[in-house]
Parts: sequence; C-alpha cells; structure tokens
Amino acid sequence: MNLSSAITELSWMRVAIALAIIYLARVLFINPGEKRSTNDDEEETFPEPMAKGDLTLAQLREYDGRDETKPILLAAKGIIFDVTRGRDFYGKGGPYNAFTGIDCSRALGKVSLEEENLCADVSDFAASERDALNGWVAKFEDKYPVVGKVTDGKYNGKF
Ligand code: HEM
Repeated sequence: MNLSSAITELSWMRVAIALAIIYLARVLFINPGEKRSTNDDEEETFPEPMAKGDLTLAQLREYDGRDETKPILLAAKGIIFDVTRGRDFYGKGGPYNAFTGIDCSRALGKVSLEEENLCADVSDFAASERDALNGWVAKFEDKYPVVGKVTDGKYNGKF
C-alpha cells in the first residue's frame, strides 16, 4: 500500500466514523417528545365532515373551532365552507380563527383581521375589495367543501 492510498483509506474511515457518531447521537439523544408529536401528526384525526345543509347565523356560531370534536365552518358571501382541514389556520388559537362561526365577507374583502370588519356587510365596498372577496371565495371553493347557505345572513353584496 503506497502513501496516497493509505491517506485515502484513512479519510474514508474518518467519514465512516463521523457518520456512525451522527447516527448514534440521533438514536440515543432524539427528543422523545418530538418523536411522539411526529406520530401524532400522522394520526391526526378530523371530526366527521359537516352534513350538507343550510344554517342560521346562530347555528353557524357553534362551529367556530372552540370544540375540537366539531367541524370548523366559516361563511363568505353567504356560502358556508367546512374549513376543518385548514385547522392550523382556523382552529382555536389559529391566525384566522376569528373568521369562523360567522360570515366574514367584509374582513376578507378588506384583507383585515380588525374586529369591526368581522361581519358580512359589504355595502360600501370598492371594486378592488369586491374583487379581493371574490378571490378568497374562489380559493375556498377550490379547497373546501361547501356545506350550504346562511339562511338569515346579513351578506348584502350583489356580486
Ligand atoms: C402579516 C400578515 C399576513 C401574513 C404574513 C399572512 C400569511 C399567510 C400565509 C403564508 C398563508 C398561506 C397561503 C397558502 O397556503 O397558500 C395565508 C393564508 C391566508 N391568509 Fe394570510 N397572512 C397575513 C395576513 C392576512 C390577513 C390580514 C388576512 C385577512 C383576510 C389573511 C387571510 C388569509 C386567508 C383567508 C388565508 C387562506 C387560508 C386557507 O387556505 O384556508 N391573511 N396567509
């Protein structure tokens, strides 16, 4: 064995030893909590999809993500969507939880999370706000099942 092949062999041995150490460290020190939560993700369960049907605003209110055994619903332009699959967005503590259990047309059109916009009043909307709302509704129609309509809704847009 000449000098250069001895050096190459030594380098490979170093790489192999380093890999073995990394592997052992992962096996020995992996955070068991972390591992469990990965398994939880795989087994994430969702409530039964919401049965199709129209709801009153009071009934819609019951599906605002607080009760994790119930589907999560939101309405836009009077159309009710089952957004349970978007639980990370809409569930309890999620960034868009405020949109659930109500018709949130105004907030969507104004791209706002302000309390005063958490309603269905779009009577003063500019064209750009109307377009924004329609864009969100198109996205929801693509992504989530439609449950039905709000029977006593306050949505007052003609578009
Ligand atoms: C700091 C400001 C914000 C940031 C960084 C942000 C970021 C995001 C991101 C990364 C997504 C995921 C996009 C995707 O999956 O395609 C998303 C979705 C969304 N955002 Fe925001 N957002 C912000 C503010 C807002 C505001 C003010 C509204 C009010 C209307 C809003 C409404 C939504 C909605 C409705 C979705 C769709 C969720 C879904 O797919 O069901 N966002 N946002």
